[in-house]
Amino acid sequence: MSQFQPRVFSGVQPTGNLHLGNYLGAISRFVPLQDEMPTIYCVVDLHAITVKHDPAVLTANTREVTAAYLAAGIDPGKAIIFNQSQVREHAELAWIFNCIARMGWLSRMTQFKEKAGKNRENASVGLFAYPTLMAADILAYRATHVPVGDDQKQHLELTRDIAQKFNNDFADRVKELGLGVANPAPSPELPDELFFPLTEPMIAGPATRIMSLRDGTKKMSKSDASDLSRINLRDSADEIAKKIRKAKTDPEPLSSELDGLSERPEALNLVGIYAALSGRTKEEVLSEYGGQPFSVFKPALADLAVDKLAPMTDEMNRLLADETHIDGILREGAGRASEIAAPVLRDVRRIMGFLEGR
Ligand code: TYM
Repeated sequence: MSQFQPRVFSGVQPTGNLHLGNYLGAISRFVPLQDEMPTIYCVVDLHAITVKHDPAVLTANTREVTAAYLAAGIDPGKAIIFNQSQVREHAELAWIFNCIARMGWLSRMTQFKEKAGKNRENASVGLFAYPTLMAADILAYRATHVPVGDDQKQHLELTRDIAQKFNNDFADRVKELGLGVANPAPSPELPDELFFPLTEPMIAGPATRIMSLRDGTKKMSKSDASDLSRINLRDSADEIAKKIRKAKTDPEPLSSELDGLSERPEALNLVGIYAALSGRTKEEVLSEYGGQPFSVFKPALADLAVDKLAPMTDEMNRLLADETHIDGILREGAGRASEIAAPVLRDVRRIMGFLEGR
């Protein structure tokens, strides 16, 4: 019997203000994976309309995320890069998953609670169902690995729950049609043949949760009203240096041990950023800067950030000047993505019992 082929899928929303957290927690980690296994990186524009949006801005932001992928080093000759709405299978599978997922599961999603705020009655149905579309993104390709930041962990657990329920609910049908794949990790909760893999989250490294530069207890976010809270991928060198200079800290020098930062979220965050940008661990950074005041550490961090980010910003700006080129990459990627997702959805339709007359 066949096995699940290792495959990476991840996505970024084109909602503007792409920032250092998106880069360190996700995009920079996409790059080395393209040499290890088949990779698919999506610009999830269908997710971006779950909140009020401006169509022209969505188009521009879709190109911006694509430019960030390319400028970070994702090679369209290796990875598939495309925008979600060009591949119909995402929306189709999301509907089927809406009928698999339970209201209770979605009601527990913390991201929905945060984004909907107090006025939940007025949130779109799409915002509530957001995680079923995310499960569809991943499972339309039967992807086995998903690199993301820490804030997506709960959504990936839900993706596994949906896959598990689908595999269980339709186990006999999958077997009868000969569409099963050997369960790589047999367990009493699962049939011995699966249709969807139980995807592994890849949440690792020193930058899984980059915090706001103004408040070390809040994550760095595209939607924070204060631009000083985040380093945007299109900030100039001067802006980057200014934001690090103004980053909130405390008056103590850095400690030499990581434990010494446990009650100092802002300091820990800056050390994490330094570690991720320099490819070192937080411990290694502290062995160099332990005992130093922020008046020494912040300029070193600003230099490092400018060194790493400025070439990428320049490349993004260069790429964005040629929309035809970017749109061509997305179109070509969408064609390749469809070639993988279409046969999966054909099988799903048979499993569901949908009659196909054409
Ligand atoms: P989005 O667009 O909010 O964020 C894109 C990626 O950046 C990570 N991230 C962070 N990492 C570290 N520190 C931060 N402060 C930070 N902020 C954001 C996110 O974890 C994410 O990896 N639902 C997803 C998009 C999505 C997706 C998918 C991801 C749709 N379908 C399928 C993976 C697989 C989102 O809103 O990401």
